[in-house]
Amino acid sequence: MAQEDIFKKVVSHCKEYGFVFPSSDIYDGLGAVYDYGQNGVELKNNIKQYWWQYMVLLHENIVGLDSAIFMHPTVWKASGHVDAFNDPLIDNRDSKKRYRADVLIEEQIAKYDEKIEKEVNKARKRFGDAFDEQKYRETSPRVQEEAAKRDTLHKRYQEVMNAPGGIDLEGMKQIILDEGIVCPISGTKNWTDVRQFNLMFKTEMGAAAEGASTIYLRPETAQGIFVNYLNVQKTGRMKIPFGIAQIGKAFRNEIVARQFIFRMREFEQMEMQFFVKPGTELQWFDEWRNRRMAWHQALGFGSENYRFHDHDKLAHYANAATDVEFKMPFGFKEVEGIHSRTNFDLSQHAKYSGKKIEYFDPDENISYTPYVIETSIGVDRMFLSVICHSYDEEQLPDGQTRTVLHLPAALAPVKLAVFPLTKKDGLPEKAREIIDELKFHFNCKYEEKDQIGKRYRRQDAIGTPFCVTVDNQTLEDNTVTLRFRDTMEQQRVNISELRGIIEDKVSITSLLKNLK
Ligand code: GAP
Repeated sequence: MAQEDIFKKVVSHCKEYGFVFPSSDIYDGLGAVYDYGQNGVELKNNIKQYWWQYMVLLHENIVGLDSAIFMHPTVWKASGHVDAFNDPLIDNRDSKKRYRADVLIEEQIAKYDEKIEKEVNKARKRFGDAFDEQKYRETSPRVQEEAAKRDTLHKRYQEVMNAPGGIDLEGMKQIILDEGIVCPISGTKNWTDVRQFNLMFKTEMGAAAEGASTIYLRPETAQGIFVNYLNVQKTGRMKIPFGIAQIGKAFRNEIVARQFIFRMREFEQMEMQFFVKPGTELQWFDEWRNRRMAWHQALGFGSENYRFHDHDKLAHYANAATDVEFKMPFGFKEVEGIHSRTNFDLSQHAKYSGKKIEYFDPDENISYTPYVIETSIGVDRMFLSVICHSYDEEQLPDGQTRTVLHLPAALAPVKLAVFPLTKKDGLPEKAREIIDELKFHFNCKYEEKDQIGKRYRRQDAIGTPFCVTVDNQTLEDNTVTLRFRDTMEQQRVNISELRGIIEDKVSITSLLKNLK
């Protein structure tokens, strides 16, 4: 099945099975805002647990924080967000649709790449085993032609993005015109000029309009950590190197909000700022780069589905940056950013607040402003990567298709579903007895509607790793049929064995143990 079709199916599956709904659905939704349903919230909470337990419980020198969404407006002046948290936007005069100019150009670059891949795939089919891919890429005139177009465009794009004095907005428009990029809705090239657009949402705090002050909905959780650096360091008697981790909502008025929960206007971040001695930051950057990749790969999705994208162009305050990218159905995309942010943020807050924000090193008897390594991952993007990778439509030997989410058991919303074979003879009571005992240890669900086969399918569709069926034999010998989601294998086991078989496999600890 084409990757695009898989993505469409994932989106409708998420709605049909209570994972993700459009926000305010009965009013036809709100652009790029989503609600997590009964199964989505469990999966999301499990992802957050996996991150929190790894970062905070397994690292002695990392502590947690939960800072407010509203912050003093000067925070955003100091951080640079008021002046520079912008995207370049362009409007199509005919469709009245607004686009990110940089995204239009990046999509054009991706189109050249797609054409190259199509050529290579065609040749692979044509030549079979004798196909020498590298040679073909180097010698095929068609591939060479597309690659030259892509490289020229890429070079021009880099030049406008890195122009001295900020992005060259006129240059961006010229690229869009020269490449003949059209609006996907109107099909025309009737573009406005490119303008900068600040992504922060504003509101007012205070009752009377005159006395009210402008407040921003935070566009990242990181600043809540920076402004609490002194509070946490002093009250926790933290010694450098140490980290502060936080999970929370962030808000961005994204111009292009597409691809479901990939780019949202209200989303959740899991961020950690790691404070280090100046001069050691690049070693720590490498360390966190490796640790974070290991955390991703411990889910078992295959290392070929991840890659780093090291940034050539760095923000003026950063001295190293990389993204962890995951292979989504629409290509490799950023899920997490890892940045070496120097002492920029703490120095800015010291300057704007007038407070001394430093660390006194008792061993060396010196004070300094710590440098910071940041790891920042979007919960919703992580959710999307997990669900896209897990979604499968299996062809069964009897010709039927089974839709199944092969979720890592520790992330699955429901761990065990218990079914009485029939609604009579005391089977429901026995099934409930099993749940009453096991529900203290993991999430269990009772189901008695429909035939067993249908019940299995419903649980497969939400990724439940274990199902148990209670039948008449259970009343005689206390055994049940235990069915495994991925293999569909069934085993007869004693009720007393269930906890031992299941608990370990569905706990977050089982994932964390992969990380040793
Ligand atoms: N404090 C650094 C920071 O916020 P970022 O690269 O802008 O860096 C970090 O964001 C992560 O947050 C991204 O890798 C992505 O997973 C997530 N993220 C950013 N914008 C998002 C959006 N509009 N919707 C969903 N997730 C988003």
